[in-house]
Amino acid sequence: MARRATTRRTTRSQSKILGIDIGGTGIKAAPVDIAKGVLIKERFRIDTPQPPTPRAMLEVIGQLIEHWKWKGKIGCGFPGVLKHGVVHTAANLSSQWIGINIQEQIEKISSCQAVVINDADSAGLAEMKFGAGKEYNKHGGGVVIMVTLGTGIGTAVFVDGHLVHNTELGHIEIDGKDAEKRAAASVRERKKMSWKKWGGRVNTYLQTMEKLLSPDLFIIGGGVSKKPDKFFEYIELKAKIVPAQMHNDAGIVGAALSTEL
Ligand code: BGC
Repeated sequence: MARRATTRRTTRSQSKILGIDIGGTGIKAAPVDIAKGVLIKERFRIDTPQPPTPRAMLEVIGQLIEHWKWKGKIGCGFPGVLKHGVVHTAANLSSQWIGINIQEQIEKISSCQAVVINDADSAGLAEMKFGAGKEYNKHGGGVVIMVTLGTGIGTAVFVDGHLVHNTELGHIEIDGKDAEKRAAASVRERKKMSWKKWGGRVNTYLQTMEKLLSPDLFIIGGGVSKKPDKFFEYIELKAKIVPAQMHNDAGIVGAALSTEL
């Protein structure tokens, strides 16, 4: 009896992970139940400091960990290429990030074990396990591309449920221009562009991706995933396209799931 009770307790505590979603405008954290794919408490958000330097952002990350008085594993999504915890690119943050082992830094400030992966990859993990990609998350599931349309364009590619890390397909060049500079959601807002015009740009972008990768499914994430009726009508693809289901929670839930990779 006693042994069974201990096993149950251990399993329950390990399924609670602090998920941190690091973005260009805000840094958000919440404890996540990774067995259920839900936030245990409402997220806590702090604006990303400007300029978004490593020192200022790590201080905010420390405040978030302190807010939750966290003593357990931490999973983070970061908007750049990450290899073994080291930042290789940070297109929408300070270039001072390049070369920094953010994983080590977070472990140092928190005394907790941490994992840091790309933010679109982490949102994709959440959608594949608990959201719009669930049916494709298996052997024979084919190719799924999650595209997050936000400050930049992030991508996560899954083959038969396996994540191909750091794809950075938001930076493919179309007509000599970086795709994210034309079709990120922030471009529509900044230029006060109509949904039709922007939807046309997203269409060109997705068609280019389809030509190169022939995915079975596109999942569209980011804030605009709540408004598919505004722009999905301008998109014509052979592949199925669906809005993300986990909306704002995907980043935090997926960040927490990255500790299981
Ligand atoms: C970055 C990606 C990131 C995406 C979304 C891009 O500018 O290069 O690493 O996933 O923005 O945040």
